[in-house]
Amino acid sequence: MPKGVVYLVRTQVAPEREAEWDQWHRETHVPEVLSERGFRRARRLRVVEGEEDHRYWTCYDLESAEALQAYRQSPAAMRLSSQHELKFGKAADLRRSTFEVVDDLRAPVAPSEAAVVGGGVHLMLRPATAADENAVLGMLKHLFDGGAPPPGFSEEQARASFRQYLGDPESGLFVAETEGRIVSFAAATSYPTMRFGRRGHVEDLVVDPDFRVKGVGHRLLEYVERWARREGVTHLSTVVGLQREESRKFLNRKGFTDASLVLRKRWTAGAPPPF
Ligand SMILES: CC(C)(COP(=O)(O)OP(=O)(O)OC[C@H]1O[C@@H](n2cnc3c(N)ncnc32)[C@H](O)[C@@H]1OP(=O)(O)O)[C@@H](O)C(=O)NCCC(=O)NCCS
Repeated sequence: MPKGVVYLVRTQVAPEREAEWDQWHRETHVPEVLSERGFRRARRLRVVEGEEDHRYWTCYDLESAEALQAYRQSPAAMRLSSQHELKFGKAADLRRSTFEVVDDLRAPVAPSEAAVVGGGVHLMLRPATAADENAVLGMLKHLFDGGAPPPGFSEEQARASFRQYLGDPESGLFVAETEGRIVSFAAATSYPTMRFGRRGHVEDLVVDPDFRVKGVGHRLLEYVERWARREGVTHLSTVVGLQREESRKFLNRKGFTDASLVLRKRWTAGAPPPF
């Protein structure tokens, strides 16, 4: 996903109009701006410390500089700006600036943990970083049934998904590393449900065949579970191919019961749906 731009509007409002402005801005103005093309989200900030002469900062995230330019030249931008001017006029002073997003970095979704498994193997369990991309992608083949990628698989798409995982606050991509080698990874996500509260799903869990039956899978799964619990997840699920009887038994021993039947319809580009 492109990093985008930030459009910052700093506002100083006359104290006697501040409450009125705050409500109108939050409930009417910003939602209207956000409904315009190219906007992703807005954060409204109020200065609580520091020498700022403008007390309210509104940071709009947009897809691109072009999207911002198109908005600023649009009739909607003119209408919204003149609404502001008509309603508050000299009572509000606005300063506008645009920023290019150079990097969008997040704190790790979980702290790293050390573990020792069978054969005296020292593991570091940690969230994946961008530097793990090739190692993680290289392990996908161990998840392919019969060694062949599923229909429609593309490495480009897999790489894009890897990066999406890293940037998604509701997902976690975790690795187990020993002596600089990635020997296992797990991909998990959490999502809201109305009936059961927050649920979690482990999409992938794989251990390098050279490191199996030592407790690596068990330790990484526990690590994922601790992340899920901190996220407020109450149920964790995973899907295992019907032919993977050993993996299913492993999961059963880790407390995953055979709970439901997964029904799947799939289609791929170039093939008539349903596949
Ligand atoms: C399923 C899978 C993740 C298990 O990983 P693993 O690292 O081999 O699993 P573990 O070593 O933790 O546990 C397997 C068994 O190894 C044995 N074991 C565990 N610790 C051990 C140790 N210290 N020494 C010797 N054996 C040990 C145990 O018998 C254990 O079974 P149990 O604890 O459930 O009774 C792995 O086989 C795999 O990657 N499979 C292919 C992908 C797949 O099917 N993934 C699951 C669905 S997405």
